Amino acid sequence: MIHVENMSKEFISPKKYPGFKGAIKGLFSNEKVRKLAVDRISFDIDKGEMVGYIGSNGAGKSTSIKMMTGILTPTDGFCTVNGIVPYEHRQENAANIGVVFGQRTQLWWDLPLSETFSILKEVYNVSDVDYKERMDFLQEVLGFDSFIHSTVRTLSLGQRMRADLAAALLHNPKVLYLDEPTIGLDLVVKDRIRQAIKEINAQYETTVILTTHDLSDIEELCEKIMIIDEGKIIYNGTIAQIKDLYGKRRMLTLDVKEIQTLSDLNFHNIFQLGEDKLQVKKEQSSITFNFDKDSLNISHIISKVMEKTAVRDIKMQDTQITEIVKEIYKHGI
Ligand SMILES: Nc1ncnc2c1ncn2[C@@H]1O[C@H](COP(=O)(O)OP(=O)(O)OP(=O)(O)O)[C@@H](O)[C@H]1O
Ligand SMILES: [Mg+2]
Repeated sequence: MIHVENMSKEFISPKKYPGFKGAIKGLFSNEKVRKLAVDRISFDIDKGEMVGYIGSNGAGKSTSIKMMTGILTPTDGFCTVNGIVPYEHRQENAANIGVVFGQRTQLWWDLPLSETFSILKEVYNVSDVDYKERMDFLQEVLGFDSFIHSTVRTLSLGQRMRADLAAALLHNPKVLYLDEPTIGLDLVVKDRIRQAIKEINAQYETTVILTTHDLSDIEELCEKIMIIDEGKIIYNGTIAQIKDLYGKRRMLTLDVKEIQTLSDLNFHNIFQLGEDKLQVKKEQSSITFNFDKDSLNISHIISKVMEKTAVRDIKMQDTQITEIVKEIYKHGI
């Protein structure tokens, strides 16, 4: 559905100097600053896939999405979306895609939502029958009945996001681009939006590209992720794979009968491991081990603790994707 090949985007902007004097100097200077925002990225996304596109601030996510949606033209390489080069055939491409930017609305501020939808129906040439079917479906998954006659400016953020999503989906696009769709939303609305995206993907095999800094969105929705860093794709694969490769930490919490009996145990000495491989935290009635799974065995820990006191409950946690990604952002792959 989406094919991207050696695509780059370089921005060239006039060099800026600080202060008022600097501003004057800038006027007469020809110096330019080059910024390679996207650096020869390549990937393919199949029909019906939901892919998380992540990276730290300024990594190049929005710039790549803008090229795929046809807003920007690459300075090198190319991409096709459903066989169309988006920035060369913007109108044709627009019929195939839906876009939601969480940071700003695409809706008309002063119009009631119902009118906005009617206008979009005309813009996208949606037949009456299709329109009815879509609206019924979207109403069911997003639930905007109670505010459909309100003007957009009076909607709460959560209502507006649901409306934005509905507007982007009214023409049943093949590809849906979501740039931080859950930013600022409370947990209930967030969940509703996620469920809606899932339903849409399941029902219509919509291909979804999702950028977000909330990795629980990704974990909930996507099987695949792509990580971009300084314009380069540094990871493209499944979430399960990345956990396998980088998720070497485990967290084990034991609820024990008598915590004080453990006070004289030094687990670093017992297991011959430093702080980097093992961290131990004691609380009122539990003890938590955060450890490298290749250096230490769970049964070892449990048996050592059980020599001293009874264990009432055991909780094991895998490394969260958030932790892995934080490390990758910090140190690279
Ligand atoms: N129109 C532009 N002119 C000059 N530089 C730009 C322009 N748009 C983006 N950039 C630069 O390109 C780089 C990538 O920006 P981009 O918006 O793609 O990042 P992002 O990954 O979406 O970040 P964020 O998570 O903050 O949204 C940044 O260094 C940014 O300053
Ligand atoms: Mg961005």
